[in-house]
Amino acid sequence: MADMDNFKEATAFGVGTPQKTIGFPLKGCSNLDWGMKNRLSRIFNPKDGKSLMLACDHGFIMGPTGGVERVDLSIVPLMKYADCLMCTRGILRSVIPPTNTIPVCLRSDAGSSILTNLNDNVVIDPEDAIRMNVSAMAVMVAVGDELMEAKTMANLYHTVDIGQKYGIPVMGVTAVGKQMARDAKYFRLATRMCAENGANIVKSYYTEGFETVTASCPVPIVIAGGKKIPERDALELAYRAMNEGAAGVDMGRNVFQSENPAAMIRAVAAVIHKNMKPEEAYQMYQDLSK
Ligand code: 5RP
Repeated sequence: MADMDNFKEATAFGVGTPQKTIGFPLKGCSNLDWGMKNRLSRIFNPKDGKSLMLACDHGFIMGPTGGVERVDLSIVPLMKYADCLMCTRGILRSVIPPTNTIPVCLRSDAGSSILTNLNDNVVIDPEDAIRMNVSAMAVMVAVGDELMEAKTMANLYHTVDIGQKYGIPVMGVTAVGKQMARDAKYFRLATRMCAENGANIVKSYYTEGFETVTASCPVPIVIAGGKKIPERDALELAYRAMNEGAAGVDMGRNVFQSENPAAMIRAVAAVIHKNMKPEEAYQMYQDLSK
């Protein structure tokens, strides 16, 4: 156990002083190799360094949850509005047309279902990720989970080794277990640990004090949308995250469980790439839903 006596609380986040980026729009990525930068540039629009990732990997742990019962019917028509698709290799091979040209962030770990506890035990064979021409690999990390913390961090570490070898960025996905606090202090710890262990992108959740989470994480953060909330609130969540330092969203349920997923994803895109205010984006959602 690390010595926690007189542990100095972190306070000097430098919020308002963005980390410098040199010659590449994404923070912390200037020193990466060409292949990494090229793949990151497929995910994050090089004009603004932002990304709307559409997450539909839920079935890998939840099965056919609401909105992804038929990925061919619900998700494929939305892909044209997203900058990147996050899915599993099973869905990629069985449902996503190979003529698709949007980049794929591949869910690259597996293990548990919603019937048990967090228990991710395997990560993908790099050759399979390369065969599928993916632009990033995503691996979940359960910081704070006594049983799975070290195992999932090792998964991330190992996947980063693979990613570095083949030029494929790795996204560390911070998991929130049932007992874990979802506050800024927790997400500062979890996101920073992902970055320190080599993640090129980190997926977090939005929380009060989020600007300290993004400020203290040296690589781009994208947020999950989380459970379905009213459309107006989800647009506000995206707006706040972007204006508190996020580089994008990796949103699933708040898009595909929306009353009108096509209208919702276009409104979210306007928030991400045009910094559209939530009121205006919600109006856009309503107009597109008519
Ligand atoms: C879980 C994930 C999901 O892709 C993530 O939760 C995004 O979906 P949602 O916006 O529905 O939360 O990475 O580990």
